[in-house]
Amino acid sequence: MRKRPRDKSEKDRGPITKAVVPAAGRGTRLLPATRSQPKEMLPVGRKPTIQHVMEELAAAALRQVLLISGRGKRALEDHLDRDAGWNEEERQPWMDLQFFHARQTQPRGLADAVALAEPFAAGQPFVVALGDSILVSRARQPVLKRMIEVHARLRPAATIAVEEVPRDAVNRYGIVAPKGDVDSVFAIRGIVEKPSPSKAPSNLAAAGRYVLEPAIFDAIRRTDPGVGGELWLTDALRVLLKDKREVLCVRLRKGEHRLDIGNFPSYFQAFAELALADPEHGAALRAWLRRRLRPGRAEG
Ligand code: G1P
Repeated sequence: MRKRPRDKSEKDRGPITKAVVPAAGRGTRLLPATRSQPKEMLPVGRKPTIQHVMEELAAAALRQVLLISGRGKRALEDHLDRDAGWNEEERQPWMDLQFFHARQTQPRGLADAVALAEPFAAGQPFVVALGDSILVSRARQPVLKRMIEVHARLRPAATIAVEEVPRDAVNRYGIVAPKGDVDSVFAIRGIVEKPSPSKAPSNLAAAGRYVLEPAIFDAIRRTDPGVGGELWLTDALRVLLKDKREVLCVRLRKGEHRLDIGNFPSYFQAFAELALADPEHGAALRAWLRRRLRPGRAEG
């Protein structure tokens, strides 16, 4: 098969180095913990959520990060400051990310937040990593790296990380409709935000990581407000599909899962999981929990 001639703009595409981290949500499901601090500053194990996200981005060789925050979220910017009193021995790769900041002034939804990234993206594809989700991976090549590789090779309009969720939980996520067989990478024909279990096209849920072409910005402009009056990224992705653009999914592998800190049940689990995995204090916590949960032990 003859190779398609590449135009100049294609040749000019360098590696994907930019990421956008939407972190402007109000955190109302986590009150009172979020009365005066951003949910992304809640610790999961010994680090705030936002730091876990930045570590993941640095590990995927991303270089520039646009943090989209909002009212009451200034602690996030402080945490990411270069000069936050770190001494050199504490320096870690994520601290070398170059941070940019934008502010969503009204809670109009995820797509409205992503739209603020248009000048930052400057016509190049970019990653979106939700600031309230941690992707835990024991895989040699974590999901974000695989997504970036797939996106650069197959050049769809969007590449989405998806995770299998229980049928009765589909109404909390964006759920994809696969086009054909579901493999480690697969194409979709649809995606719907928070469907009821009876209407869900699958149980594969968008897991808070996306690689997007700049075409998404035009798609967002053509997206109408959806559930709750918000502009959903899911609906903008559907506009891309309507334009006959390809949208691919990369499935989380065995040993990979998403920790969601957006509500108390999953935040408690996330904290417990990473505290138990702490190299220094995990073993002691496990022993304490075993004693604490011993059958017959009185509560309190
Ligand atoms: C957002 C997205 C949804 C996705 C979810 C988890 O929903 O809109 O498609 O599945 O994050 O990453 P939210 O949790 O903000 O309601």
